[in-house]
Amino acid sequence: MSNADDHTEEGRAQARVAAYYADPARRLTLMRDLFNRSARYYDLVNLLVSLGSGAWYRRFCLRRAGLGSGKTLVDICTGTGLLAREAVRLTGKTGLVIGVDVSEAMLAIAQRNLGIPLIQASAEALPLADGIADFVTMSYALRHVADLQTAFAEARRTLRPGGTMLLLEVSAPRNRILRALVGSFIGFLIPRLSQLATRDARARALMQYHWQTILSYMPPDVVLRVMRESGFESVTCTSYIDLFHYYIGHKPSEPECPPP
Ligand SMILES: C[S@@+](CC[C@H](N)C(=O)[O-])C[C@H]1O[C@@H](n2cnc3c(N)ncnc32)[C@H](O)[C@@H]1O
Repeated sequence: MSNADDHTEEGRAQARVAAYYADPARRLTLMRDLFNRSARYYDLVNLLVSLGSGAWYRRFCLRRAGLGSGKTLVDICTGTGLLAREAVRLTGKTGLVIGVDVSEAMLAIAQRNLGIPLIQASAEALPLADGIADFVTMSYALRHVADLQTAFAEARRTLRPGGTMLLLEVSAPRNRILRALVGSFIGFLIPRLSQLATRDARARALMQYHWQTILSYMPPDVVLRVMRESGFESVTCTSYIDLFHYYIGHKPSEPECPPP
C-alpha cells in the first residue's frame, strides 16, 4: 500500500514525512539544512517540550547505562550537545566525550557550550577508528537518520568489545487518548509556543516536523530488532508512558573469529 492510500493517522504522517524527503538521495542535506536553520532555537524549544526535565532525563539514562568517570563516549547526532553535556559531567576530567553531527550550526552551539572534540560527519560514516569508545549514544535522532542499519553498524564498529550503545527516542503512544493528548501538546501547542517565544515561523515548522516524524516512526520492537540484526546483544528497551524510550545494547565481548 502506498502512503497515499493509507488513511490512518500514521499513514498520513508517513506521507507528510516522505514529502520532506522528496528526493531520498538529498535527505542528509535536507536534514542538515533543517537543523542549520533552526539551531538557534533548539535549546529553548527543547526546554519547552521537556518542561525543563531534559537534562535530568538524559543524565538519568546515561547513569542507567552505566556511564561513569574515565569513560570514552561518542555522542552521535550530538546537536547542540544536550546529552554530551551530561556525559561530560559523568565521565569527569579523566573521561572523553566526542560529539558528531551533520549540522554545522548545531555544532557551533555545542562548541560554544562545551569544550569537547566535535566532528561534522554523518552517523552512517563516522570518521573514527575502530573500538575507541566505551559508549556510543544517539538521542532523539533515530527518526532523522536515513539508514539506521548502517548507522548502527558504524556505532558498533566504533565501540570496544563489550561496549554499550544507548539510544533515547520518543514514539507516539499506542493508546488513542494518550496519543491525542501528546499530539495536542507536541504537535499543536508546542509549535505555536515555539513561534511565540522565538518570533520565528521556522521554530514552529521544526516542531511540526518533529511531531510528524514521531507519529510515523518505527515502534520500539522494530528498533530492538534492528539493534539485534546489527550485532548488538542483551538489547533492552525501557519505556515511560509509552512515549519516552531508552534502548541499551552491547557489542559482544568475545573477539569475532575470522572466517575459516
Ligand atoms: C533532534 S536533534 C538531537 C540532538 C541531541 N542529540 C539532543 O539530545 O538534543 C537531531 C540531530 O541529529 C542530527 N542528524 C540528523 N541526521 C543525521 C545524520 N544522518 N548524521 C549525523 N547527524 C544527523 C541533526 O543535525 C540534529 O542536530
